[in-house]
Amino acid sequence: MADKVPSPRMNAELLLMFTLDCDRAYLYAHPERELTTGESARYEGALAERARGVPAQYITGHQEFWGMDFIVTPAVLIPRPETEHVIESVLELRTPSAAAGRRRTLDTMRIADVGTGSGCIAVALAKELPGAEIHATDISAGALEVARANAARHQLEKRIHFHHTDLLRGLHGEFDMVVSNPPYVGETEADQVQLEVRKFEPRDAVFAGQRGTEVIARLVPQAHAALGPGGWLVMEISGAIAEETKHLLRAWVEVAITPDLQGISRVARARKPAP
Ligand SMILES: C[S@@+](CC[C@H](N)C(=O)[O-])C[C@H]1O[C@@H](n2cnc3c(N)ncnc32)[C@H](O)[C@@H]1O
Repeated sequence: MADKVPSPRMNAELLLMFTLDCDRAYLYAHPERELTTGESARYEGALAERARGVPAQYITGHQEFWGMDFIVTPAVLIPRPETEHVIESVLELRTPSAAAGRRRTLDTMRIADVGTGSGCIAVALAKELPGAEIHATDISAGALEVARANAARHQLEKRIHFHHTDLLRGLHGEFDMVVSNPPYVGETEADQVQLEVRKFEPRDAVFAGQRGTEVIARLVPQAHAALGPGGWLVMEISGAIAEETKHLLRAWVEVAITPDLQGISRVARARKPAP
């Protein structure tokens, strides 16, 4: 495996912890522990999968996000640390200046998470905002199954309403916030995307069309129609589409694009103007 995947030691340890269903402390505390024949076979199988490029999270079935453990299957995008900036951007709106002029506080808002995938954004927001009403949509039935399982895993299934639909189609009533990590990679940038992502993560979760802004271009007007005056749209984006996203948001107010830890434009936040 050493010549086929980055950080081979970390991967080998992770898969051994998965095989033995133990933590790192146990591994180091029991160097004498020998694998049974069954464990050896499982470990070899996991190493072989990883060596052919399958992401470790699809082998172990888990990924941490916002300090919570999420089930992941090949039906969903593996939650990324950058997406935690979306949660931070939403929670920043708790501050009195950001809340100015709004009818509801962040904690009691009606929020839609569009393209929920594993459910990581919806579940993290449901946990952080116990009074909010949360709706989560996805066009993939397989993804919604995983998202529902994750909500249940964190005892938040009663807090999130799941919808199998295209973006916000069919959702009724006025929302205070639309949040989304939509597909935003352009087919023209495909060769810059890691081979593991291209080969193993769901294509419709990653690629939006030729330019990368095709889904966002449909989401912005739909969010505008779904939001009440002063409502917020918060989206994950990439540096490649930051300028075009700003252009798409030209009729909105308080438009802000914030960077991730690498300094890449990562979150676009904007407010629907009050009439
Ligand atoms: C980049 S993934 C984000 C998943 C998850 N929210 C996250 O942050 O890890 C995009 C998700 O949007 C879904 N999706 C793609 N096109 C969609 C559409 N037109 N309507 C609803 N969901 C869509 C995909 O199935 C995928 O689950």
